[in-house]
Amino acid sequence: MCGIVGYIGSNRAYDILIQGLKRLEYRGYDSAGVALVDCDGKLKIHKSQGKVSNLESIASGANVEGHLGIAHTRWATHGEPNDINAHPHVSQSGMIALVHNGTIENYAVLKKVLMEHGYEFKSETDTEVLVQLIEYIKLTSSCTLLEAVREALLQVEGAYAIAVVEQNDPDTLIVARKSSPLVIGVGENETFIASDATPIVGYTDQVIYLKDNEIGVIRRGEPVQVLSMFNNEPSTINIQKLKLSLAQLEKGGYDTFMLKEIFEQPSTLRDCLRGRIVDNCRRVTLSGVDLNQERFKTAERITLVACGTSWHAALIGKRLIQDFCKMPVEVEYASEFRYGNPVLNEKDIVISISQSGETADTLAAIELAKAKGAFVYGICNVVGASIPRTTDSGTYIHVGPEIGVASTKAFTGQVTVLTLLALSVGQLRGAIDDATLHEVLAALDKIPETIEEALKVDPEVKKLSRIFSYAHNFLYLGRGYNYPTALEGALKLKEISYIHAEGYPAAEMKHGPIALIDHDMPSVIIAPSDSLYDKIISNVQQVKSRGGAVVAIVSKGNKAMNDIADFCIEIPEVPECLTPLVASIPLQLLAYYIAVNKGKDVDQPRNLAKSVTVE
Ligand code: M6R
Repeated sequence: MCGIVGYIGSNRAYDILIQGLKRLEYRGYDSAGVALVDCDGKLKIHKSQGKVSNLESIASGANVEGHLGIAHTRWATHGEPNDINAHPHVSQSGMIALVHNGTIENYAVLKKVLMEHGYEFKSETDTEVLVQLIEYIKLTSSCTLLEAVREALLQVEGAYAIAVVEQNDPDTLIVARKSSPLVIGVGENETFIASDATPIVGYTDQVIYLKDNEIGVIRRGEPVQVLSMFNNEPSTINIQKLKLSLAQLEKGGYDTFMLKEIFEQPSTLRDCLRGRIVDNCRRVTLSGVDLNQERFKTAERITLVACGTSWHAALIGKRLIQDFCKMPVEVEYASEFRYGNPVLNEKDIVISISQSGETADTLAAIELAKAKGAFVYGICNVVGASIPRTTDSGTYIHVGPEIGVASTKAFTGQVTVLTLLALSVGQLRGAIDDATLHEVLAALDKIPETIEEALKVDPEVKKLSRIFSYAHNFLYLGRGYNYPTALEGALKLKEISYIHAEGYPAAEMKHGPIALIDHDMPSVIIAPSDSLYDKIISNVQQVKSRGGAVVAIVSKGNKAMNDIADFCIEIPEVPECLTPLVASIPLQLLAYYIAVNKGKDVDQPRNLAKSVTVE
């Protein structure tokens, strides 16, 4: 939610900031803005509602000189997305500018106090309160900007990553974080700051991940200084090498990031599996499990917590762990778990799943689980994000940067890692027999090729999408392992085409949603040849006999379904527990093409942001 970027060096800050904002646009695109500190000590602000391209139009022809600047792309929380609420926000005197990702929870109280001291507010944002507070402290205490920032942050409740500049100091950039990410890129005589490493790639591979309650002081020509917010003492600086390439951030010939990411899945799953299936498909090695064998052997229960698509992966994880580890498993929305007084102890393992590793509710769920003594394991994509740094142990899915807001390759990466984890823990606990372990591992080892095969339905699905782009409502049905696949298919369609879609367990449909079915409401039914195939056939018939059109996702070679469903899409045959991986491919493509047919912006759907760092 919201992306911030900053630059200090000898190049024109504006160009670097605009490029950085474009890479961070997946975090929000309601408005964008820059603040530049000119060499002659002037502060120039340009901001505009809408995407970064709007900001570029507004700023074209304007003076955008300066070698120090901060910028922001917004996902609105406080106040509607308009020019006034766009960041950067500026203090009353016009001397201090600030960009912020997060939320200031006690902003109303602080605003009231500041208003009593004569401060006037232009925007409805919580952020403006912070910049005014910094100025108020600086003026009343006659202190430096750094001291004022620190003092102000001690008064603030909430989550933030901020960057602050001052008009009459073109040589200083101050940043700070608490519960929102912030990375500092250390270059040759130039320094970059950003919400994630993507704006930094191509300039330097030396990065510092700021920790919670740390302030970074970046002075032109001096090494970066990091201080503890509480005692002002210098913190140890850990410069890490960034493993991210420019090619990973580009569309690589595809029209959109989402399509690129769908088609990348054979190679991302290859990366995800690399070195993890060993001994001729008879053993899994996941360092996070291997190093904590005792924990996994003695655990009495596993609880999976996540949001959105990651929660759908968790539902599949539940079945995998139940089937292969034969132990109790629960799945919770992180947002419900954190306020649900969960009963946990040191015999519990909590597995948090998150692509971004920054989702606020998932982070809070982790903190709570840790406080209650549970062992917390993270499954994450973004290396170095807050979640992998907070959990006790974990596994990266290694699928590379996912830029399309609708998650695709991260979902299949998460399901793959959950499969590996369930098999590994199952073997450790003696809960899985060798033959099953070998059969599943052999098929999983080949999953990149199988997905390549599954992607061949692309032209067929594209054609089919034209027939269904008219629909206003969709039902997605699945059973067993593929009930979560149905939920995920429906979510994909909703978020990028804005068509209402409901995912449902196929057998539950007759307890209510069946009333919705008519010839205007198509159903997508996931019906691979698995243990529940005969059952789902009845569900297909129930839809058909009420006039509903059915698109059935079936295993290759299933010709019988042609007589019942209106359209069949074939997927390669795999063991039952792997069917969500292959069945999700045509569902991703169907949602994609329907959205494209409707002229929607699939990479940046309205109202959404890639990483949800607010409650
Ligand atoms: O980064 P996370 O996996 O924690 O994100 C969770 C959800 O916000 C995310 O999966 C969201 O639902 C996606 N837009 C779905 O495509």
